Amino acid sequence: MAHGGDRVSITVHMKPVSLGSPDQLRDSVRRARKQPKGRQPEVSALDAVQAVLGPRPADGHRRDLLIEHLHALQDNHGALHKSHLVALAHEMRMGLSQVYEVASFYHHFLILEDGQTPPHLTVRVCDGLSCSLAGAQVLITQLQAAVADRVRVAPAPCVGRCESAPVAVVHQRAIGEATLADVQACLSAGHSSIGSTPTQSATVKAWPTAPSAWCEPIHPQGVGMAAYIDAGGYQCLVDVVTARVPPQEVLQTMEASGLRGLGGAGFPMGRKWRIVRDQPGPRLLAVNIDEGEPGTFKDRTYLERDPHRFLEGMLIAAHVVGCERIYIYLRDEYHGCRATLAQALSELQAQPPCTLPTIELRRGAGAYICGEESAMLESIEGRRGEPRLRPPYIAEKGLWGLPTLAHNFETLYWVRDIVQHGAAHFSQQGRQGRHGWRSFSVSGRVREPGVKLAPAGITLRELIDEHCGGMAPGHDLYAYLPGGASGGILPASLADVPLDFDTLQPHGCFIGSAAVVVLGHLDRARDAAWNVMRFFADESCGQCTPCRVGTAKAAALMQADVWDATTLQDLAHVMGDASICGLGQAAPNPIACVLRYFPHEVGASPDGLP
Ligand SMILES: Cc1cc2nc3c(=O)[nH]c(=O)nc-3n(C[C@H](O)[C@H](O)[C@H](O)COP(=O)(O)O)c2cc1C
Ligand code: SF4
Ligand code: FES
Repeated sequence: MAHGGDRVSITVHMKPVSLGSPDQLRDSVRRARKQPKGRQPEVSALDAVQAVLGPRPADGHRRDLLIEHLHALQDNHGALHKSHLVALAHEMRMGLSQVYEVASFYHHFLILEDGQTPPHLTVRVCDGLSCSLAGAQVLITQLQAAVADRVRVAPAPCVGRCESAPVAVVHQRAIGEATLADVQACLSAGHSSIGSTPTQSATVKAWPTAPSAWCEPIHPQGVGMAAYIDAGGYQCLVDVVTARVPPQEVLQTMEASGLRGLGGAGFPMGRKWRIVRDQPGPRLLAVNIDEGEPGTFKDRTYLERDPHRFLEGMLIAAHVVGCERIYIYLRDEYHGCRATLAQALSELQAQPPCTLPTIELRRGAGAYICGEESAMLESIEGRRGEPRLRPPYIAEKGLWGLPTLAHNFETLYWVRDIVQHGAAHFSQQGRQGRHGWRSFSVSGRVREPGVKLAPAGITLRELIDEHCGGMAPGHDLYAYLPGGASGGILPASLADVPLDFDTLQPHGCFIGSAAVVVLGHLDRARDAAWNVMRFFADESCGQCTPCRVGTAKAAALMQADVWDATTLQDLAHVMGDASICGLGQAAPNPIACVLRYFPHEVGASPDGLP
């Protein structure tokens, strides 16, 4: 920089650039500061966003509704266009980077450059473990050859319908036991009802409403409000709210029942209620229906059948614990459930059995990690679903820093029965000294997959023989995953171990959400392990290095015919010891199990060492 009299000049690449006098320089800086910062919204994009969101409320759009707004924009425009994100940030009085970092976190949001045309339609094919066993890869290849010129074909992680694998999802319509012909028929049904393939000028024109053939309907067998009330529904809630059954008695009943959280962690429900109840109000309730653990589909099954039983349990919990507001977080993949739940909630609001707390139904956006409770709270607050460090625990500081009771859908589903019929109704169930019943989501090589309500402590062999009609024809039991992707893999020789919380840890596994995937003698445990490790690598939120790098590196190493067991074990130790949340901590389980129980498959010695 050279000073020449009262003028300032800067030499860049030998070319002098004059900035004028110091006063002129100060003026131009002042002018620049008055300019609005960052990219400014285009009028057409603002119009488009306002058309979807409606006029901005006087106190601004709620920040926590960001993900809902992103969904609304994508539903209306087929994707998230960058100009719309700029306009949305403006409308929400947020920085563009804040909007962008959320939109880009969730798998279900598709961000496009302006002018890019969104895919006309997306067909997702689940390539989770149960669907892969049932031929998902073949279906993907067939679809790519047959329809990929007209629709986007994308693999997807478990969509929660493993009992009818392989599953394809055309827009928002799931097709079980899907074949190429089924998917083509569904595509044609939708096309014929909307006419020809729509063309788009990307930024302004709204996306046509999806035809019903591509949308999941309300489940036809679901119990509606009238039938539920006719069968005595909501009486239990009324008894609790009017103190005919006092809250202390409900608490004692829940504790005596021994019901433990059915989302995976198994924390005793009654104890959790007491902890949250003892916190200063206001308190909140967050319901976890993210059901992302591959192999798990129990919550969906019960929700489709009997939504009001769940709502009654939820309202009893909210009343006893003193929760003022309730947030229900439902995974995006469950379109039919969303319609079912929205209808049940409006029925409830139209005919409330008691004064209702505020209830909000929130829509996930395709991120498995949002099932982890603190990540779910982040997502409900409208942020990236990154798990929080603990302490503080969410029971003390949860949503917006307030004490929060978080429960899995199914845990709340059983509340009414237990309060109504007493603790023993639940605790007297069980085998081999275990208590209660468990809803096993069984898939893979069994004759009759599905949700099986069975006593806690039942063994895998009993579960298959008594509840699943035996093994699928042509398959002999070889191995099983007792707790979805996270819970490890056990050999057939351990098919007589009682299945419950705490019974599988000595074998390096856990039951988690009781998602049982059964492998036959033609399958390999190493393929299952690789499938779930790729899932973890895709779903890691990336916050901690051991998990982000470790899962990806492990997935790469697990492809080798002969495993580098030393490196994999090192990775497994670091992931298990140094990850913030359960995803990274459980990700090494498949590696450890293959080395321990199936070393012959990966060229390792029986003690797992190279
Ligand atoms: C990676 C990860 C994913 C999880 N996914 C779910 C889920 O999809 N649904 C669920 O209810 N719990 C899930 N959990 C467990 C929750 O963190 C939490 O323990 C549970 O929702 C609490 O409810 P409960 O006590 O009724 O089980 C997950 C945990 C981890 C670590
Ligand atoms: S362990 Fe994995 S998923 Fe969990 S916080 Fe760390 S990076 Fe995210
Ligand atoms: S629906 Fe495909 S693995 Fe679960």
